[in-house]
Amino acid sequence: MSGQSEMDPILKVEHLSMKFGGLVAINDLNLEVKRGDITAIIGPNGAGKTTVFNCITGFYKPTGGMLTLARKNGEKYLLERLPDYLITHKARVARTFQNIRLFPGLTPLENLLVAQHNALMKSSGYTILGLLGLPGYKRASAAATEKARFWLEKINLIDRADDPAGDLPYGAQRRLEIARAMCTDPELLCLDEPAAGLNPRESAQLNKLLLDIRDETGTSVLLIEHDMAVVMEISDHVVVLEYGTKISDGQPEVVRNDPKVIAAYLGVEDEEIAELIEEVDTPSVADPTDLAVAHLTKEAVAEIAQEQPPAQAGGPKAKPARKKPAAKPTSSQPAGKSSRTSARAKKKPSEGSK
Ligand SMILES: Nc1ncnc2c1ncn2[C@@H]1O[C@H](COP(=O)(O)OP(=O)(O)OP(=O)(O)O)[C@@H](O)[C@H]1O
Ligand SMILES: [Mg+2]
Repeated sequence: MSGQSEMDPILKVEHLSMKFGGLVAINDLNLEVKRGDITAIIGPNGAGKTTVFNCITGFYKPTGGMLTLARKNGEKYLLERLPDYLITHKARVARTFQNIRLFPGLTPLENLLVAQHNALMKSSGYTILGLLGLPGYKRASAAATEKARFWLEKINLIDRADDPAGDLPYGAQRRLEIARAMCTDPELLCLDEPAAGLNPRESAQLNKLLLDIRDETGTSVLLIEHDMAVVMEISDHVVVLEYGTKISDGQPEVVRNDPKVIAAYLGVEDEEIAELIEEVDTPSVADPTDLAVAHLTKEAVAEIAQEQPPAQAGGPKAKPARKKPAAKPTSSQPAGKSSRTSARAKKKPSEGSK
């Protein structure tokens, strides 16, 4: 954990709600992001995670609630009242998207320079003479190049600084997006599923990059992630959403053993949660996650035995095993109230965009 956790939260979300017509995507959500921490938001598909980001970054105007951003210099901003460009420039919040949004035809270096466009234009006095002659602009331009170089080295892309960004491997593009966000000097960096689609080596590089960002720049990180290996390894604090409501909030090891979280990921009925809580409270149980899986597997086998007609030759076809929360869900069943008894799924990064 970072040393600054005892400080005031950088972001306070209070009674946040977001409705789309009759659909309640976020319901009276309260959470805090501590300054200098990596805070993860997890939850099944459709839980409302990206919607929270869209409210924080001004893409959506929330239906209700307050989002207070407190900067290091003491300035406070009510994000729900600010337009998105001021959320970036004044409140110092940067984000990446669930789907990659680089300029694929520009090089990594150019992508990082474009991110600093506002600072450069300001130093030019917004005039052509400024661009051509003002010493302030020349200094700012050199500083922008230096910053871009720093981040290219940090993400191991200095050797590919002049290739089109669209030609880079997927993991490198993800890191470049994060570097681009960092070039805007954020105090809060919001990352929407940065590990989606990464192989284990790229995932490890990402973990290191995020820990470096936290430890070396002091930037607070708010992370949406389905990859539990990433969440459990680098997060200081985890918030779990289900159907737009917070169901758990705490340190990673506490959250991973929370029966409500296990149930949300496995997709069990409400009454089963009560049973799980009882069983988890039993001192003889070493690992509640294993217990939940064993319990549900037994139940699934019994269900299958009941459902399958005995005449079927070759034995019953097994249902796909329900997964532990500490793994990426893989089935493609959509989330929804009607699918409560099914393991809810994670879609591939290539599907759709938000
Ligand atoms: N612009 C919109 N209009 C209508 N409904 C929306 C809109 N944006 C999100 N929703 C709905 O709000 C709910 C939450 O969506 P959201 O994208 O926040 O989920 P998520 O937790 O990010 O899911 P995933 O893990 O699949 O990315 C979903 O039911 C979604 O269909
Ligand atoms: Mg999402």
